[in-house]
Amino acid sequence: MASATASISSHAIALRDLKAARIGAVRQQVAAAPAAPAVRSQRARAVRPLCAAEPARKPLSASAAAAPVAPVLVEEEASAVPAAVDYEALAQELQGASPLEIMDRALSMFGSEIAIAFSGAEDVALIEYAKLTGRPFRVFSLDTGRLNPETYQLFDKVEKHYGIHIEYMFPEAAEVQELVRNKGLFSFYEDGHQECCRVRKVRPLRRALKGLKAWITGQRKDQSPGTRASIPVVQVDPSFEGLDGGAGSLIKWNPVANVEGKDIWTFLRTMDVPVNTLHAQGYVSIGCEPCTRPVLPGQHEREGRWWWEDATAKECGLHKGNIEKEGQAPKVGVNGNGSAEASAPDIFQSQAVVSLTRPGIENLLKLENRTEPWLTVLYAPWCPYCQAMEASYLELAEKLSGSGVKVAKFRADGEQKPFAQAELQLQSFPTILLFPSRTARPIKYPSEKRDVESLLAFVNSLR
Ligand code: ADX
Ligand code: SF4
Repeated sequence: MASATASISSHAIALRDLKAARIGAVRQQVAAAPAAPAVRSQRARAVRPLCAAEPARKPLSASAAAAPVAPVLVEEEASAVPAAVDYEALAQELQGASPLEIMDRALSMFGSEIAIAFSGAEDVALIEYAKLTGRPFRVFSLDTGRLNPETYQLFDKVEKHYGIHIEYMFPEAAEVQELVRNKGLFSFYEDGHQECCRVRKVRPLRRALKGLKAWITGQRKDQSPGTRASIPVVQVDPSFEGLDGGAGSLIKWNPVANVEGKDIWTFLRTMDVPVNTLHAQGYVSIGCEPCTRPVLPGQHEREGRWWWEDATAKECGLHKGNIEKEGQAPKVGVNGNGSAEASAPDIFQSQAVVSLTRPGIENLLKLENRTEPWLTVLYAPWCPYCQAMEASYLELAEKLSGSGVKVAKFRADGEQKPFAQAELQLQSFPTILLFPSRTARPIKYPSEKRDVESLLAFVNSLR
């Protein structure tokens, strides 16, 4: 070990930096690195996990690829984390700061002990911001083995564009093997995504984070109003441990927490950054191939993820603190009845939309009183998907006013939910029903296309 240390020093790596710079399994490998000078210099050139304006890498030779990797650090970038930082106060201080400022602060505080978590989607913006700071930075990605080919292609493009090496984390082969042998390749469609995500994402993430003191994510508030609405720009990680171990040993930075998706896209286009080609095919939020699909106009981006599950479940565990926090205080989601739901401001507020009470909708169910068709949305004001269709529903109501079709809403969460499930075909929010005039039971709108034209076509074909 002593000779390894000496050789590494000649590449400007201090031992304390070396200890801090290991992600996951790399940790043991670094400690055991042999000291042959020729191999050392090859490694130092070939694998440069810290990435500030590095030249594009040459292809790794077989021996270099298999060799232990020694992260190459830049001496002056050693971390300077103050002994005690009040991260709540820091989050307040940085609340109005730009992503670039936040990124700069994160990298300057943690040096080689921090890394960007890159998913292969629009969070490439994080890498661009890191590059713009001019500081060295590291990037890791969780390769679940189930990503889209387009995402792997993006990883390659990003590595070449920025001249960086992404530090990939893989699941434990034995765990994947056991899961797939026991339950098949698509068990998540049967019994939920948590088990597969735990094996393929969460455990590899835990390993990665055990080699760091801080990490940087691309989470944004607008990605999931249900679970991410209050993420701060920096926080003590509520779920995972860092290098020093124990609660509070890891800091989580979310530099784009306050940025809206459209502004991320303006930035990516302006900076001419490589992006995932899936975005051009209607994908917004991108995860694993079997669990991600494009969204339609008017749909919330999160509806493209684990679409067969309730809104509350749409966190894979990487950011489970978002859910746990919600669970302690108000519960948010399709199944919840907590106070956040009670206090959520009402939606679909317009003179063109009739607000139905329980007796009102019960009357509609009784055919005799129905002299004109009624279009009704069963909704919950806190539901992000209801919020996402609000504008098109209000526009539709305006268009239909005076047409003989009534447009209404019925709040179907809380104590009304069992009734709505039993009598009104409610499975998830929003559910849209057409009560035709004089005849038949309500007809459920079968599509997730909630733009004005599609809804209008539905009404006109049945009125
Ligand atoms: S997820 O929890 O639903 O999968 P999401 O796709 O919204 O997360 O991404 C939020 C942030 O989590 C990303 O910007 C990135 O920082 C991190 N992240 C998500 N997936 C990965 C991944 N496969 N590898 C590394 N980081 C990831
Ligand atoms: Fe498995 Fe789907 Fe989770 Fe990927 S997103 S780890 S495929 S359940």
